[in-house]
Amino acid sequence: MPMLSLFPTRIEVALLKKRGLDSFNRDLIDVCESLRLADTTGQRWSARNYPGGYTSYGSHDQMHRISTTFAVLEKALDPQVKAYALALGYDLRGRKLSMTDCWVNMMAGAVTHSLHLHPLSFISGTYYVQVPRGAAAIKFEDPRLDRLMAAPPRRDDLPPRERLHFSVKPKAGQVVLFESWLRHEVPPSFTLRERISISFNYGWSQTKK
Ligand SMILES: [Fe+2]
Repeated sequence: MPMLSLFPTRIEVALLKKRGLDSFNRDLIDVCESLRLADTTGQRWSARNYPGGYTSYGSHDQMHRISTTFAVLEKALDPQVKAYALALGYDLRGRKLSMTDCWVNMMAGAVTHSLHLHPLSFISGTYYVQVPRGAAAIKFEDPRLDRLMAAPPRRDDLPPRERLHFSVKPKAGQVVLFESWLRHEVPPSFTLRERISISFNYGWSQTKK
């Protein structure tokens, strides 16, 4: 019997849609820039919690409910998130997935997003609106890392599936989906142009008993 490989961690990287991404992203950039200008609460929150960058996480975290452009994004994401959950083996009969949170992240220079997960959610992800050349990847951590207490270092020539970290370098127009318990971070990009992304969470509810 061969050695078993069990308990996979699945991350999906896919285009949001096949056509019209450039003009859709321009519309999103307009909304993000207008929001940042008007959002004084978010500017203050970002100065304390996201120094050098802007995020609407602390002020407008349900953008899909207040912006028609973000509602279009939600509509495009819904089937992708559902397909991802089904591919992971979740039984969605009599259950409905829905976007619960959706917020803007704008980062350039030395702005970072430290290691975190998305508690209280089922599936999380990010849609990439603008990714300048040289912008940072999103770096995922092996969820078992904090249990590897007495392990020696691993070789550095291992394939991606055996590593303790894996970085996804997204392109504009791509969506990255992962289960909300998976810790991740964004190191600094040191780019002049902003990296603009929209993060979101999905939860589930029962539709029938
Ligand atoms: Fe995140």
